[in-house]
Amino acid sequence: MDTVPRQAEARRRFLRMLVASPLLGRSNLLRISLTSLLGTDVVVQAETLAGLETPQQGEDIISSPDQAFDVMDFEPAARKALPPAHFGYLATGVDDDGTVRANREGYSRLQIRSRRLVDVETIDMSVRLFGASWSSPIVICPVSSQKAFHPEGDIAVARAARAKDHLQILSTGATSSIEDVIAARGAPVWQQLYPTNVWEVGRAIVKRAEKAGSPAIVLTVDLQEGSNRETLFRAQLRDDRTCSACHKGAYTGYARGKPGVRSGGFAESMARKPMFDGLDLSKVTGMRAKPMDWDFVKRLRDTVTVKLLIKGIVTREDAQIAVEHGVDGLIVSNHGGRAEESLRPTIESLPEVIEGVAGKTPVLVDGGIRRGTDIFKALALGATAVGIGRPEAWGLAAFGQAGVEAVLEMLRRELKTIMQQAGTTSVDTITRSYIAIRPS
Ligand SMILES: Cc1cc2nc3c(=O)[nH]c(=O)nc-3n(C[C@H](O)[C@H](O)[C@H](O)COP(=O)(O)O)c2cc1C
Repeated sequence: MDTVPRQAEARRRFLRMLVASPLLGRSNLLRISLTSLLGTDVVVQAETLAGLETPQQGEDIISSPDQAFDVMDFEPAARKALPPAHFGYLATGVDDDGTVRANREGYSRLQIRSRRLVDVETIDMSVRLFGASWSSPIVICPVSSQKAFHPEGDIAVARAARAKDHLQILSTGATSSIEDVIAARGAPVWQQLYPTNVWEVGRAIVKRAEKAGSPAIVLTVDLQEGSNRETLFRAQLRDDRTCSACHKGAYTGYARGKPGVRSGGFAESMARKPMFDGLDLSKVTGMRAKPMDWDFVKRLRDTVTVKLLIKGIVTREDAQIAVEHGVDGLIVSNHGGRAEESLRPTIESLPEVIEGVAGKTPVLVDGGIRRGTDIFKALALGATAVGIGRPEAWGLAAFGQAGVEAVLEMLRRELKTIMQQAGTTSVDTITRSYIAIRPS
């Protein structure tokens, strides 16, 4: 290697080390300078990996929910509370985690055009979805394996959803049953569906959810097998616990950071998830239908007697086809950047999906929503409601039910504030005219 590239590499290595160093703390100014020297990807990756090991020295980590200023304050608290592999599972995107960042950055390209001299004494944040009324448009997304974050898992989330009156969507991979979650919520929750490659298994989950009183089934379509969740794999390598103590025969898709090596059978791992209780999983090899195509959606539509939504649609074309197949609603989602490294923020997919459904169904959006202003922007672009994934899980991991409640409360408060500031008194008054796109 000649001297110049070697010096350049040594310089980059030093800067990387600096980024990962506790000395950086939360200094934004220093971070911005380093970002311009190194490029965003390198900085963020170094920070994430450093953060997985230990909470950064000098970082103000909240020790109770009331110390939080915003929902991001719950992330370091969750990282502190969780073993590296579990936090890695929560944080991970795919490849360089670029789509996770894109989801956030998408919101910074949108500006709010506030109107003045409007009487904003009374603010109504309520929305209606399929005839039911909710006091806010903030929906709790399906997140699997929540007992990996807190012993009370989905039950704590359900109690928080009850306390704050939020719609909750339960994952197929939930660590509590839909019956127990509905009892804790004190009202029906929606059931997310990974149908598996065995029709009878997917059908049985649908029928069980319907019997439990779930008014909607949400088919997730954005996840193929084998997403490259590199942040998770690296975190697994940093975790010195013996994972087999809890994950006997677990399907991780990957064994301790070695892509492509399965640590156990899918059926074995799913057998531990309550929504698969009593089902014959001997022929189950994966979470998706095989093939997972529009014929499958048609068959499912004929089977589901309650509302059927599809989660993971990001294009106008697919939105149109979904409507033609009699789907009742869509969730614009890229699985929180955990599926493919598209680098496309969901907030930028939202307008074309809304065009595709042409007013025939409600459209929800999730991915990167961390502020009341993000919610406001999504509503202004036509979303009926918005979903949050990681923030509720950070709250759960850090403080259980109280943490989830605090996250929900904070987002509601911020939404109310921006509605007042922008001069909008109810959700239906938040329209496209309140948004300007930052000139590029
Ligand atoms: C740890 C974790 C587990 C998830 N599990 C599921 C799941 O079981 N089913 C599903 O449809 N989406 C799942 N998602 C995706 C979320 O439902 C949601 O689309 C995403 O988290 C929203 O992005 P955000 O985390 O930036 O808010 C999961 C997300 C995370 C972070």
